[in-house]
Amino acid sequence: MKNIVVLTGAGISKESGINTFRDSDGLWENYRIEDVANFDSWQKNPDLVRSFYNQRRKQAMEAKPNQAHKELVRLESHFNVNIITQNIDDLHERAGSKNIIHLHGEINKVRSVRDSNYIIELKHWELTKTDKDEYGEPLRPHIVWFGESVPMIEPSIDLCQNADILIIIGTSLVVYPAAGLMDQTPINCKKYLVDPNEVKADFNGISFVQEKASIGVKKVIDEIFIDNHIIE
Ligand code: APR
Repeated sequence: MKNIVVLTGAGISKESGINTFRDSDGLWENYRIEDVANFDSWQKNPDLVRSFYNQRRKQAMEAKPNQAHKELVRLESHFNVNIITQNIDDLHERAGSKNIIHLHGEINKVRSVRDSNYIIELKHWELTKTDKDEYGEPLRPHIVWFGESVPMIEPSIDLCQNADILIIIGTSLVVYPAAGLMDQTPINCKKYLVDPNEVKADFNGISFVQEKASIGVKKVIDEIFIDNHIIE
């Protein structure tokens, strides 16, 4: 079976009602994501950071997978598929995709500040200052903040280095190391990019499908099926 790697960003969840970060609607109460999503902010103003992620968790729990998330599941009967998502929502999981790497963490989980292996799944949306770890310290969101290491980047690089097909969906490709993954693919890897807007990327050898995810992902998958003589 051929290996397909799918790299997703906020744009794939936009039609599920979750705002992207860098559109005009990407500000949260006049804060830029970069100003909230870092450990310094957590230390200086934990209430603000908790409240920001509580709202994101509530929104993610209420959202439903859209057609783009669902279309990707179709690939799994015919290809070895791995999804690398920058998104912290669980819409790929709820759509039914199996192999998912969350590069930037998961909103439904919280963890200890002292012990990064102490991770708890939160069943409700609200994390409070009374939710504590085994040391009695408040739990933090299980999110990779700006300036923190990205532990899942190594397995993601391995997957890209073995990809026959790479599909990139709804990411501005400005945040590293995620944005560099597309350069890790072999020279003969077929690459697609789905985004309704122009993306600052080296388009050399990439098929750009300028569509919203719900439409563009179906187009790409239909093309892949034709190229590979697959009849559903
Ligand atoms: N379908 C597909 N793409 C869309 C849609 C849509 N309906 N609507 C918008 N987009 C595109 C935008 O054109 C943009 O290129 O989605 C992209 C979203 O870009 P960003 O907001 O920058 O999101 P992303 O690339 O996922 O951000 C990367 O930055 O803030 C951090 O950790 C956060 O994971 C995030 C990372």
